Amino acid sequence: MDRQTAEQKIEELRQQIEYHNRLYFVEDRPEITDREYDALMRQLQELESLFPELVTPDSPTQRVGGEPLPHFEKVEHKVPMLSLGNAFNEGDLRDFDRRVRQAVGDQPVRYVCELKIDGLAVSLRYEDGWFVRGATRGDGQTGEDITQNLKTIRSLPLRLRKPVTIEVRGEAYMPKRAFEKLNRERETRGEPLFANPRNSAAGSLRQLDPKVAASRELDIFVYGIGELIGETVESHSEGLALLESLGFKVNPERRVFEQIDELIAFINRWAEKRPELPYEIDGMVIKVDSFAQQQELGFTAKSPRWAIAYKFPAEETVTVLEGIEVNVGRTGVVTPTALLKPVSLAGTTVKRASLHNEEIIREKGLMLGDHVVVKKAGDIIPEIVAVLPERRTGAERPFQMPTHCPECGSELIRFEDEVALRCINPDCPALIREGIIHFVSRLAMNIEGLGEKVVAQLFEQKLIASVADLYYLHERRDDLLRLERMGEKSVDNLLQAIEASKENSVERLIFGLGIRLIGAKAAKVLAERFGHLDNLQRATREQLLEIDEIGPKMADSILTYFAMPQVQELLERLRAAGVNFAYKGVRAEEGSDLPLAGKTVVLTGTLSTMTRQEAEEKIARLGGKVTGSVSKKTDLVIAGEKAGSKLEKAGKLGVQVIDEASFLQLLEQQQAD
Ligand code: IVH
Repeated sequence: MDRQTAEQKIEELRQQIEYHNRLYFVEDRPEITDREYDALMRQLQELESLFPELVTPDSPTQRVGGEPLPHFEKVEHKVPMLSLGNAFNEGDLRDFDRRVRQAVGDQPVRYVCELKIDGLAVSLRYEDGWFVRGATRGDGQTGEDITQNLKTIRSLPLRLRKPVTIEVRGEAYMPKRAFEKLNRERETRGEPLFANPRNSAAGSLRQLDPKVAASRELDIFVYGIGELIGETVESHSEGLALLESLGFKVNPERRVFEQIDELIAFINRWAEKRPELPYEIDGMVIKVDSFAQQQELGFTAKSPRWAIAYKFPAEETVTVLEGIEVNVGRTGVVTPTALLKPVSLAGTTVKRASLHNEEIIREKGLMLGDHVVVKKAGDIIPEIVAVLPERRTGAERPFQMPTHCPECGSELIRFEDEVALRCINPDCPALIREGIIHFVSRLAMNIEGLGEKVVAQLFEQKLIASVADLYYLHERRDDLLRLERMGEKSVDNLLQAIEASKENSVERLIFGLGIRLIGAKAAKVLAERFGHLDNLQRATREQLLEIDEIGPKMADSILTYFAMPQVQELLERLRAAGVNFAYKGVRAEEGSDLPLAGKTVVLTGTLSTMTRQEAEEKIARLGGKVTGSVSKKTDLVIAGEKAGSKLEKAGKLGVQVIDEASFLQLLEQQQAD
């Protein structure tokens, strides 16, 4: 093909791809299958690799093109990015309406009411229809250039349908499902969780490596125009219609009102319906529609007089900090926990809140007896967001972090460049006890009936001093029966659950041992690669480093762990007790004749005959790989009761779906073979 034909064909393909991209990611009504879309993309990639000089940064192949940046460049906003004044109740809204009507005289007023998306404000600049720059709000005058990261958002058009020059404002956000999936992944990797979708969207856009943002499934709604050249619009609603016609994703739940009563009723309906949305909103935004009226109203120092943000009642409350408890975790890190006067918050009673580390206590200036504002952070763990010094009586006392371990008395150490204090005594009872709690936990050996309290009791009564002792507990039945709340039946159940855990596939054991830096995912990879714990123990540094997911620090941690004589002793006792050291999942290459060999499977809804964990193991045994979300790479969806959006998506993408009964049939067939 000559260059000119290639140029034409490339242009044609880009337009087609952008068109289908918009249908899929913006309008949610695809016209072609994923396979057809992939084929277009492949053709474009092939042509671009033949004519690399024709690759432009706006090509759909370049959404994740860039290299990691050394830092973000500063961007001046030509038109400042203002924030809005707030309304917290009906009265504030009526006041706003009165102020507006007074300022515009007798003219009729139309308001546009929109959802207030809880994400990160961004500005997008297009020149002659090409996306050239995206920036954060920053302080409103100057933001940071996050073009590379914004380009990874598939609903953001790289080229508009008309060659206009325009600066658009919008909110980048992370859908609830993507947020939950991300946190699940972070949990298995032992990484700190994001408190809410807003923080995780902000964190993702602040990454210097665009590959990270690309993996985070961000999305965007645009809600306004900063600057526009070559088109005229008379009102905000016309502006939104223009944005839509240019190919932007504009939130469809907006409405125009002439009466404040109707507008308030609309807001109240959304306050109720908010949990049903697939993304978080923290309020509603009300804007005067007519630009002429907006101009008449003007601005205060900080915000426009023609708009206001109504904030939903926050899931926050005030209570008293009654004490601070200091606990030692399995890695020796000492964490303070706030003990609160019990208070009800968003449907549950809150008594404790994590304080993470000493620095946070200092930063917030917390004193024992203080009144504090507590917030449910993304429905995960309650958090103290602020202290109310104006409510102090003088009876409050400062808090001193201990200098010595509350459990073993050894001096606490702070490693260089770490905020955390640690107990580094390997014989510290807290470390051992927490290590056992980790060993029996759900993602590790998953021993039912062995909760934190029972482990603590067994440990205190000296029935166990290491994880190996769990497997010798059957010899101490009488001692077990003497424990608090331990009848015949619960002792039997406990011993049975311990016995059953011996059969676990070895990745659970590897994770359960608590080797530093080895999370559940790494444990699975190691189990798959080495097949048996004995092989892992003998593995060399080179062999470990050959594995993609294992970095040098992890390799060293594994080598150090297995070199310890006490570890050898522990493993021998586990082996002697009959704990399985072999990998029972199916290795991908061996699985060729298994029914799910090489298939990617997604579980959704609740299964009635097994837990999710069991189902995942069964799928692995059939040769399949379980992933969290449905995409065009998914081969099969197994849908239990109350399957929701994943099932819907599978339908849309044409992925094969089976119910629990068919899944059971598949398992039975396999056993019969
Ligand atoms: S309009 C000058 N509309 O809420 C008017 N803002 O202070 C600019 N937000 O950080 C804002 N959804 O990023 C507008 N539909 C919406 C919005 C919205 C979310 C954010 C915005 C800003 C804050 C308002």
